[in-house]
Amino acid sequence: MNKKQKFYITTPLYYPSGKWHLGHSYTTVCCDAIARYKRLTGFDVFYLTGTDEHGQKIEERAAAAGKTPKQFVDALVDDIKRLWTLLDIEYDKFIRTTDDYHVSSVQKIFTKLYEQGDIYKATYKGKYCTPCESFWTQSQLVDGKCPDCGRDVIDAEEESYFFRLSKYKDRLTELLTKTDFLSPASRVNEMVNNFLTDLEDIAVSRTSVKWGIPVPFDPKHSIYVWIDALANYITALGYNNGEENMDYWPADLHMVGKEIVRFHTIIWPAILMALDLPLPKKVYGHGWLLLGGDKMSKSKGNVADPFVLAERYGVDSLRYFLLREIPFGADGVYTDEAFLNRINADLANDLGNLVKRTVSMANQYFGGTVNAPRSVAKDEYITAADALFNKTDAAMNRYSCSTALEEIFSFVSQSNKYIDLNAPWLLFKNGETEKLNTVIYNLLEGIRIVAGLLLPFIPRGAKAIFGELGLSSPNRLDNIKFGDTKCFKVGGGVVLYKRYDVKQELAALNKTDKEIKEEHMEEQVEQKAEITIDDFDKIQLKIAKVIACEKVEKADKLLKLTVRVGDETRTVVSGIAKSYSPDEMVGKSVVLVANLKPAKLRGIVSQGMVLCAVDGDNVVLISPEKSVESGSEVC
Ligand code: MSP
Repeated sequence: MNKKQKFYITTPLYYPSGKWHLGHSYTTVCCDAIARYKRLTGFDVFYLTGTDEHGQKIEERAAAAGKTPKQFVDALVDDIKRLWTLLDIEYDKFIRTTDDYHVSSVQKIFTKLYEQGDIYKATYKGKYCTPCESFWTQSQLVDGKCPDCGRDVIDAEEESYFFRLSKYKDRLTELLTKTDFLSPASRVNEMVNNFLTDLEDIAVSRTSVKWGIPVPFDPKHSIYVWIDALANYITALGYNNGEENMDYWPADLHMVGKEIVRFHTIIWPAILMALDLPLPKKVYGHGWLLLGGDKMSKSKGNVADPFVLAERYGVDSLRYFLLREIPFGADGVYTDEAFLNRINADLANDLGNLVKRTVSMANQYFGGTVNAPRSVAKDEYITAADALFNKTDAAMNRYSCSTALEEIFSFVSQSNKYIDLNAPWLLFKNGETEKLNTVIYNLLEGIRIVAGLLLPFIPRGAKAIFGELGLSSPNRLDNIKFGDTKCFKVGGGVVLYKRYDVKQELAALNKTDKEIKEEHMEEQVEQKAEITIDDFDKIQLKIAKVIACEKVEKADKLLKLTVRVGDETRTVVSGIAKSYSPDEMVGKSVVLVANLKPAKLRGIVSQGMVLCAVDGDNVVLISPEKSVESGSEVC
């Protein structure tokens, strides 16, 4: 049996230090599209993401919020996982740098490097940027400030363990200048000129930071947050710990933002060289998503909220905007207006209309059943449809989602033109049935190829298109060929993407932005204030009995429960699917927050919330200790 070729792709580990914004979603959505594309072209993909939870910044944030660092990060990790579910991200593993297996593996790495002389103890004197937790040499400073964030640096001196980075200078120079390890190539000069020319050993432990992994043989030192974080790419595969997935190593692609290219193309390969492990095949340094001319960032407060946008405009719209609007490798600008215009122009007008018009004609002229014509002469349109896979593939092999989408949408435009050019309504009027059949069939085939190629980018819309064509969506893209469909039985012509009134939406979004900012301010002050008994009294808790239960499609954490509360029947969506199977739930009595405002989750209106105890990933239902009537008050 032919073994599938492995493909290992990673996002950076995100700092859980504040609200998640659209900038974070960008990297993860790009990686998700690439991972899906690779799966659909026959690769055995491992897609890793996670959170980078140690360090001074997080310690400080947690203290300001009156929480322990772990409590603080736990809440944000729940949020980011919720965000990835909302955005249809299909990762294979989520790693947290606070996970035990990661901590012990990092300690073993540190000890090994120390024992073999790649790490040594000395005193560090240098310029230190507290927010970035980075030491810099004088020559690296820009106008005396931190080259990454532009803030003041301080003179710092501390006993530190050092990693012998300078020892790897020649190999690193060769890696960066003689191979295509780093893309886009334009970032190579920056690395070589700014960092490699004066490559010094780096301090890799801190005595000042308590929230970190202790150096196992000298625990007053914490391991430098970057050594801890970068190692995730191997600890997640079981390095030093069972090695269960190490055959995915080396990674095919580390996708990172441009400001952290330095860590991934200098420090990380040097660590791997010291560990005698193969190097990742590629680091891709993408640009930033800018808002108001500046990098979208939580510390600057200029963020767009992916939760709000995905819930209001749909996941596909957001995914599409991120993947299409930001030229790969360069910066892209987010404005609500650009976002709305993009959805209107590409998804609602070009794609949505193409599908709707074609399906309507198939219904009108052929009663919904369109058979393959007996013979089809290869024309310009068919040639373009057949070439589309190769064009998309070439772009995706360069990891350029924006180019791939440009290619696909250029064919969508060509398809719309093909309709106008062939005027099927005239063919119908003139009784040219055979030609009409060919034109409509060709269009449906063109749409099928488009829908297949769109699966990695906008999976929901693409699947809906297959539904409209009366076909199931394929699990391979590389063998889709024009003309393979024998017969289409089309649907009723659903509206795939709504067209928005931009002015009206901008007004609504501004209001939402303001509300979000206010929420954000409140969140920074403190999250859970004390409440009085009267406040508590506002919450109506009732016993509910589960009478039916099923999984929510495409949401690996959600179950849809049908519950009886006294005489009433309600639907409740609950995030317990990882801990309970639908069968197990039927017959259980649970505690329901009965007067919670209904909310839509995955298109299902949830009328209440089921109470659970949450201990990390372990979610346990709260149930009455003895049998009790459903509808009973809990007080
Ligand atoms: N924790 C480190 C990475 C460690 S990887 C071993 C870190 N975290 S971060 O949360 O600050 O950034 C994570 C990723 O999000 C980076 O790739 C960063 O570029 C990306 N983005 C954060 N804001 C962004 C934009 N506004 N636009 C695009 N990506 C941005 O760095």
